[in-house]
Amino acid sequence: MSKPPAIIAIDLPAGLLEDLRRSVTPIVTGSDPAAIAEALPRAEGILCSALFPLPAETLDRAPRLRVISNFGVGYNNVDLEAATARGIAVCNTPGVLSGAVADLTMALILAIARRLFANAAYVRAGGWSRREPPPPLGWDPAGKTLGIIGFGRIGQAVALRAQAFGMEVVYHDLVNEPVEGLEDCRPVPLEELLELSDVVTLHVNLDPSTHHLIGARELALMKPTAWLINTSRGQVVDQQALAAALRDGTIAGAALDVLDPEPPAPDEPLLAMENVIVLPHVGSATVETRAAMRDMAVRNLVAVLTGRTPPSCVNP
Ligand code: DGY
Repeated sequence: MSKPPAIIAIDLPAGLLEDLRRSVTPIVTGSDPAAIAEALPRAEGILCSALFPLPAETLDRAPRLRVISNFGVGYNNVDLEAATARGIAVCNTPGVLSGAVADLTMALILAIARRLFANAAYVRAGGWSRREPPPPLGWDPAGKTLGIIGFGRIGQAVALRAQAFGMEVVYHDLVNEPVEGLEDCRPVPLEELLELSDVVTLHVNLDPSTHHLIGARELALMKPTAWLINTSRGQVVDQQALAAALRDGTIAGAALDVLDPEPPAPDEPLLAMENVIVLPHVGSATVETRAAMRDMAVRNLVAVLTGRTPPSCVNP
């Protein structure tokens, strides 16, 4: 029996690609847009990065498609309604990357608190040899309030880490109920979270309800000493409003692993601001986590194409 044809738009190590070939015929390997466009009408599956756009128009050019296996937990790159209407399973890789994203978030909290980047810049500028002015002072995370918006797997993993550093955790989610093992974390309305928190961190999915969830009104509710961290999706924040809030001192700073768009335009104002830390979307970028994500994405693809239940499917 012939094996179902699939586009493999991310790099897979040779061993994993060999495993995959036992059940699937890769008709494209790699992310060349022209090769993918040419292969789409024949493809029954596509394994792609969670940043690869799959709007309804593209799905129209893929009449045989049965599964989109996203390499990542976010799936805002896919028109879910259009995929569901066409009977296409949309799969993702939750869980395996929660620890890595939470680690990065905690690293940013500590970097902000201890002014890591400002101190490194101070040394590079020769400040240490002059000793004048003295190096910038940080603050202790213990006793400070962390506001977590989106209290799913990643948000909860951040809470565990922050509690280990003595932070008070409040959170806001669609389901504002106490979470087992995290009973000390307090669910609060969004406005209260913004007013209370010394650091606000975002861990929501991007969908129409979370698009520009943080805009001028929300930033104005935050303390002037507070920082905003975003490791979710750039579009959750109104970037123009954020730049304005950072410029006029409405909030103290922002640490952003995600932007809108990605990569940003070279003249993106946030890139030039001293109170902004920008990373190139590396929340899940560790050797171990990326390997686990690749493995799960391959299992999702193969399961659907061979008539089995995939480890994680987001549409009914
Ligand atoms: C995810 O898993 O959604 C990460 O942001 C990688 O795209």
